[in-house]
Amino acid sequence: MTLKISVIGTGYLGVTHAACMSSMGFEVVGIDIDPSKIRALRAGELPFYEPGLQELLVSELASGRLTFSDSITSAAAADVHFICVGTPQQAESLAADLSYVDTAIDNLAPVIKSGSLVVGKSTVPVGTAERLLARLQEINPLLDLAWNPEFLREGFAVEDTLHPNRLVVGVTNDQAEVILKEVYAQNLAQEVPWIRADLPTAELVKGAANSFLATKISFINAMAEVCEAAGGDVTVLAKAIGYDPRIGSRFLQAGIGFGGGCLPKDIRSFMARAQELGADQSLEFLREIDAINLRARTRVIDLVRAELEENLIGYKIAILGAAFKPDSDDVRDSPALDIASQLQAAGAAVTVHDPKALTSAQLRFPALKYAKEIEECIAEADLILHLTEWKIYRELDPVKLIGLVKRPIIIDGRNALDRDLWIRAGWKFRALGRKAIN
Ligand code: UDX
Repeated sequence: MTLKISVIGTGYLGVTHAACMSSMGFEVVGIDIDPSKIRALRAGELPFYEPGLQELLVSELASGRLTFSDSITSAAAADVHFICVGTPQQAESLAADLSYVDTAIDNLAPVIKSGSLVVGKSTVPVGTAERLLARLQEINPLLDLAWNPEFLREGFAVEDTLHPNRLVVGVTNDQAEVILKEVYAQNLAQEVPWIRADLPTAELVKGAANSFLATKISFINAMAEVCEAAGGDVTVLAKAIGYDPRIGSRFLQAGIGFGGGCLPKDIRSFMARAQELGADQSLEFLREIDAINLRARTRVIDLVRAELEENLIGYKIAILGAAFKPDSDDVRDSPALDIASQLQAAGAAVTVHDPKALTSAQLRFPALKYAKEIEECIAEADLILHLTEWKIYRELDPVKLIGLVKRPIIIDGRNALDRDLWIRAGWKFRALGRKAIN
């Protein structure tokens, strides 16, 4: 008989996982404590933007395999329960807030059948899984727990879930691995690498992967700083080192750095946990990674001041991009919006454009001014800042735009625009890690 699956938490990760599991043929119930979210999902409405997911949600609802519920008792019939709730950064420290994970386990344990498997997907500090397993078995000794970290990227969530580059399962016994192999049978048939680990290693894999990615980005941003000081060009440097397969060219895009709901909070929670374990020295370098990342935001503001003047009061600045990355409407810890609000606080008249993230940006930063059209955003601007590398911005025609602005100055905060094209059209083009050429 096909396994039945419940997914606890229908945020970004949970909805994607639920819809993808359903598309693999499983009967899936997505459960959330927020009834308005459940109502929307039942109606086929996705509360955020993610390419391909809306279509998948609608088709899986129509198949009858995928349902949603705001009651934890709906998990009773399932054999495998995925925990996909959030683990945000605590307000008063660097550590992760585990209250949603704890509540999910406490609510789930009394209602599910003996012999079922709870599988954690949320990013948690190492040691959490062992603690949760003990808690689960305190309530019902016949329940088991595994940890199966998630590596999906926003903008590619469906693709990454259906075709992951590896599957990592932390288990304490063979039976749990057998069940998980049944869940991921289709991936295994595609020869996706399968890594069995113990619980702490499975939890650590996620922290290690995100730390490595963050380090790669901050490394190239540190090189951008050195290029600026020495008169070099970081885009050429990145290309040149990237050809070495040991280094690789991906995640070497210098610019205003990383943001989003994962990398910043995950490296901080990793440091906080290492400190608790007495291994703080080992992850001390992540403080520097974090600092380099935040410095990139300041450096772009310095560049704005260098082009206009120290005092920004009254200058009109147009910002292209609000999302923390393209193909997403997620603005959590968005470098673009952080820069926009810092410029506004410095007295500039800031207008922000984004093709998808205006609603979420408005909710988080209601005091900023937003424009639905690019032309409206840049009208009479003293300077344009390109801060999220959406494809539509790369396709802009600088010849057409030059008549709309007050001064033709553009700063590329993502090193993604075609510099020659803009310069040929008569713009002054500046970028992080590249010297000015006029
Ligand atoms: C990340 C991890 O990639 C994913 O495996 C994990 O599951 C969750 O966290 P995501 O937050 O979707 O995924 O974004 P990612 O594509 O990793 O980008 C993170 C940030 O780094 C973005 O703000 C992006 O603009 C920035 N970035 C990325 C750079 O500044 N330069 C780069 O070269 C790459």
